[in-house]
Amino acid sequence: MTSAPLDAHRRSPAFTPLPEDRPVRWGILATGGIGARFTRDLRLIPDDAEVAAVASRDPARAEEFAAEHGIPRAHGSYEELASDPDVDVVYVATPHSHHLAAAELCLRAGKHVLVEKPLTASPADTARLLELAEQEGLFCMEAMWTRCNPLMRQLAGFVDDGRFGAVRHVSCSFTFPFDGPPEHRLLNPALAGGAILDLGVYPVHAALMLLGRPDRVRAEGSLTSTGVDGHAAALLRWDATASRPPATASLLTSLECGPAESLSVAFEHARVDFPAGFIAPRSMIVTTIPTAGGERESREYTATIPGEGFGFEAQEVARCLRAGQRVSPLVPPEATRDAAGVLAAWRAEIDGGRGTGAHSA
Ligand SMILES: NC(=O)c1ccc[n+]([C@@H]2O[C@H](COP(=O)([O-])OP(=O)(O)OC[C@H]3O[C@@H](n4cnc5c(N)ncnc54)[C@H](OP(=O)(O)O)[C@@H]3O)[C@@H](O)[C@H]2O)c1
Repeated sequence: MTSAPLDAHRRSPAFTPLPEDRPVRWGILATGGIGARFTRDLRLIPDDAEVAAVASRDPARAEEFAAEHGIPRAHGSYEELASDPDVDVVYVATPHSHHLAAAELCLRAGKHVLVEKPLTASPADTARLLELAEQEGLFCMEAMWTRCNPLMRQLAGFVDDGRFGAVRHVSCSFTFPFDGPPEHRLLNPALAGGAILDLGVYPVHAALMLLGRPDRVRAEGSLTSTGVDGHAAALLRWDATASRPPATASLLTSLECGPAESLSVAFEHARVDFPAGFIAPRSMIVTTIPTAGGERESREYTATIPGEGFGFEAQEVARCLRAGQRVSPLVPPEATRDAAGVLAAWRAEIDGGRGTGAHSA
């Protein structure tokens, strides 16, 4: 797969909205772990999604995946999937190092894309991909499913309506001890390995969803023996604005401790916690602190999650494609761009900038 130059002046007209009376036809690009998990969840929303085709670099693997998941067409290359006329949108599920090339291939072939997180491995590649989608007039979204979860949307609503005052601090960790082989994508520099891009992207998106782009990123951490970031903590700061006091966030990601999947948000007049994880949360506890004395009160909000919870992002993609919307307000391009900038700054503090260059395939 090669990258053709972008034409900075070309802009395509809006695409024709997909009809409401049939499910969106998905193509699954890559047959790894998340490709299978996402496919299983698409099956749970048959009015909105149909898995029309799958592609692998290996034709036999594509056939096997198609047979296992009941998918009508198996393609032995990503190129074949990109040119399948009966696919509306492609789910890109390769390692992050290969997101850009695969998503470019699909966009240039006229396909909308949902690209696994992080959208690409660097801010430059992220800007390039978002620009290409805009030029082609096609939908492109980072698969940051956490932002599509109903409880996370409710949390974002608390910021917008100001009911608990301003957010002053976000504390968020996503860690687990990983003892796989050095060639595994999590540890392999050639596959954009490291904790920050793979796991740290969630705490970064959680903090940015609540506070926007930070003014300062500081970090400490250490590298694995393969040279990727294995353990990394970050401290983010947002300066005061006319409408908001200053705020901070402390984020932790690691392949060397845990497991931890925690989010706690300190508003001026409340604290919000996610007792059973924040990535696809089913429960959120809001503890309010009365300003004029009285007892603290805790209220639990719950959500029903079909399957693992990937369906919410797929339904958001369907909503956008049926409405003719090129971008989603739940995971807008500017949030993906800002997150890419924070991820790169965080990585640069840990590895001296070695790993933050482009990882284009
Ligand atoms: N949203 C989530 O909860 C979640 C969870 C896990 C991972 N992810 C994201 O999903 C992406 C894939 O993760 P995964 O855990 O599914 O990885 P994986 O199990 O290693 O699968 C990746 C697949 O990508 C394809 N691929 C293309 N080029 C490759 C290369 N050079 N080396 C290895 N595989 C290559 C392979 O499929 P073919 O052989 O069929 O071409 C492979 O099976 C990552 O970007 C990750 O961040 C998201």
